[in-house]
Amino acid sequence: MESLIIKGGTRLKGEVPISGAKNAVLPIMAGALLTREKCVIHNVPVLRDVGTMCRILESLGAKVERDGNTVTIRADKVTGVGDYDLIRQMRGSICILGPLLARLGKAKVSLPGGCVIGVRPIDLHLKGMRALGARIRTSGGYVHVSAPRLRGAEMFLGGRSGPTVLGTINIVMAAALADGVTVIDSAACEPEVIDVCTFLSAMGAKIEGAGSPTLRITGVKRLHGATHTVIPDRIEAATYAIAAAATNGEVTLTHCRPAHLQAVIDKMREAGVKVESRGNRLTVKRGGKLKPVDVTTQPYSGFPTDVQAQMMALMVQTQGISIITERIFEARFAHVPELGRLGADIAIEGPSAIVKGGHPLSGAPVMASDLRASAALVIAGLCASGKTQINRIYHLDRGYENIDEKLRNLGAEVERIDVKGP
Ligand code: EPU
Repeated sequence: MESLIIKGGTRLKGEVPISGAKNAVLPIMAGALLTREKCVIHNVPVLRDVGTMCRILESLGAKVERDGNTVTIRADKVTGVGDYDLIRQMRGSICILGPLLARLGKAKVSLPGGCVIGVRPIDLHLKGMRALGARIRTSGGYVHVSAPRLRGAEMFLGGRSGPTVLGTINIVMAAALADGVTVIDSAACEPEVIDVCTFLSAMGAKIEGAGSPTLRITGVKRLHGATHTVIPDRIEAATYAIAAAATNGEVTLTHCRPAHLQAVIDKMREAGVKVESRGNRLTVKRGGKLKPVDVTTQPYSGFPTDVQAQMMALMVQTQGISIITERIFEARFAHVPELGRLGADIAIEGPSAIVKGGHPLSGAPVMASDLRASAALVIAGLCASGKTQINRIYHLDRGYENIDEKLRNLGAEVERIDVKGP
């Protein structure tokens, strides 16, 4: 098992290139199952989850080649049964369901895993597939979906916490090859949804309204191969931006898309951070004393749930009280007790965390529990005095390309070590 050792107290300075978006590339790779022809995907980050998706596609019979940040997929022949153990490893694997159903008329896929941040049901994915005419049953931990022919339909895909990102993507991919027109109301508007639609359109899909709550998909008979470059990862960008502010540093993010980060930039400015964007570059520096801000997570274009933990780490550095409310996932506060080990004063009340910021942090051994919680611990560790050891960093490697190297290039004292497991 690997751990990260961080010696805190260094201001981050310099430039950091932002990698391709994990949450766009995973469904895009799954989308390659919709055609027998070759798909070439550029700007693919080297991540554990991408490796897992490659193995899932291979287990379905696709040929996958990785060359640096390019992945080539040829799904000449595919089977509709996904490998149980691989699929269980991450939530993103659920988006093979739509393409397999559309391509083969049936699929058997295990219920997906992923970060432990709440219940994470797939009822909305299944609701959409049922509307397209699929029959669904679950047995032995697998979901079986079948439909000799999918038929376009009108559907409402909003849930308790708003739209569903992967649910929307799954239905768009299934509808792309259905007979007739599908209209999805309350579709997710995240940039990752738009990126998947851009890729599918390059394959010949007919999709209108990407990025709006109403999507209209006119099914086509077949899709062809395509080449696509994945958008920059807005969550990775937000993480480095917050790390720069938290360490009182000055960092320029390159290869990023500031327009995808408006809610985060707005909150950071409200907190007193100087943020300047120019083209695909974003420069972040602390303007003076930080001010506490309240944050509520929302579907895009609101403040992202995937940045809630990192923002909390910044508020821990900020004198005063801030209230951080999580509205997307009900159990996404695993970072709170671990931040407490470093000296943070945070109380949880229902969906809100009340942060009494400004207490000095001191390094300690902490446990990475999920991807974004781990990122928050890295930020706090960078600010703490002394040494912080973050254990179980495989969570970080699921979603952050070369995180230790990128941080070292910004001047941080970070080392990856191998520790013997219990
Ligand atoms: N939901 C349902 N039923 C469903 C699907 C979702 O009730 O069938 C609920 C969820 O429980 C949650 C809300 O709807 O309360 C939103 O979940 P959503 O379906 O949008 O999440 P997701 O598509 O499974 C993706 C990202 C997450 C990110 C969320 C929200 C991937 C692989 N994952 O998950 O990313 O937090 O959208 O933006 O794309 C991460 O990268 O760390 C991560 C967890």
